[in-house]
Amino acid sequence: MKVPFLDLSRQYRYIKNNIFMGFEGIFEKQNFILGKELNDFEVKMTEYLDVPYAIGVASGSDALWLSFEILGIGPGDEVITTPFTHASTAIAIYRTGATPIFVDIDERTFNINPGAIEKKINSNTKAIMPVHLYGQAADMNFIMKIAKQHDLFIIEDACQAFGTEYGSEKVGTLGILGAFSFYPTKSLGAYGDAGMIVTKNEKYYNEMLKMRNHGELNNNYSESIGVNSRLDTLQAVVLMEKLKYIDNWNGLRMEHAKLYNELFHKKGLDEYIEIPYESEMSTHIYNLYTIKVKEKRDLLYNFLYKKEIGTKIYYKTPLHLQKGFNSLNYKEGDFPIAEKIGNEVLSLPIFPELREDEIELVVKTIEDFYKEVKE
Ligand SMILES: Cc1ncc(COP(=O)(O)O)c(C=O)c1O
Repeated sequence: MKVPFLDLSRQYRYIKNNIFMGFEGIFEKQNFILGKELNDFEVKMTEYLDVPYAIGVASGSDALWLSFEILGIGPGDEVITTPFTHASTAIAIYRTGATPIFVDIDERTFNINPGAIEKKINSNTKAIMPVHLYGQAADMNFIMKIAKQHDLFIIEDACQAFGTEYGSEKVGTLGILGAFSFYPTKSLGAYGDAGMIVTKNEKYYNEMLKMRNHGELNNNYSESIGVNSRLDTLQAVVLMEKLKYIDNWNGLRMEHAKLYNELFHKKGLDEYIEIPYESEMSTHIYNLYTIKVKEKRDLLYNFLYKKEIGTKIYYKTPLHLQKGFNSLNYKEGDFPIAEKIGNEVLSLPIFPELREDEIELVVKTIEDFYKEVKE
């Protein structure tokens, strides 16, 4: 039996009929751009997230970039973030002309270490961008305290954490602006690229509505300099349908994580691997279920690959050591925790439709690997 890292077709079969009905409505009306369905989806999102404003944009990357643009962050400014994330997090800062400033991560949560932020703050610092990695919130209380003390913006990269709760609030709604990605593999995924910005700030909302549409509210009259970054009406139909199930689906992810955890303990594998840490303040929606492999991570990865069990490494090389970020002049050893964790992490199959027997097989195959290497 194979276990796919992610099989989106199982979910597709479940919601197919309603999606097609929705598509047909759009094809009949031909309202592909800024159709009513986009507005309906944005309203549903404000209700779900309990936030006054939501603006659909073309991708999570654009959601981050446009957030900085709206805040007037640009050349000469610095934004503090984590090096242990997808490149798009830091590229969003680059696109404005500002400089990403990295700080190391917390070994348990893999999120930015708030205790290391203050040392990097200077007169050029304008914002902090925490990333809620894998589906678990960064230490927002600590980060919000620092931001307040130094009068800095917080832009949340909530691209991997749709539905995650921090205390009684959903992530993405805690900073001045929050960005979501609906890339197909995300817990709420579109059938193509899509993203969203959420905010409690009416002024930024109104500016963002123009910004995503060439600065226009009405056709062919530009009130400000904007871009083309709209969420497709067809994608809004998909997302609106999926939103109905998101709590159930995130709940299933959590149940799968629990089963993995139990099986790893039961089989005595704690000696070799560490299950994901769950912080007290945050829920973990397990967009990714990522273990730390204390020994022989790459050999385990290859072993699982040969046994047709899909796994992935997010992220082998932290951003400061990737060629694309050479101009920042970081070097090996600058962020030792991120570098160490990059050699240990392994993400295992997780998606709502994953079956119990598949989880059992993943754990059993990991057990087989360690039996084999011990012999
Ligand atoms: C943490 C993080 N930030 C930003 C993004 C960018 O999102 P998108 O692919 O929708 O542009 C992603 C998705 O890959 C991500 O995982």
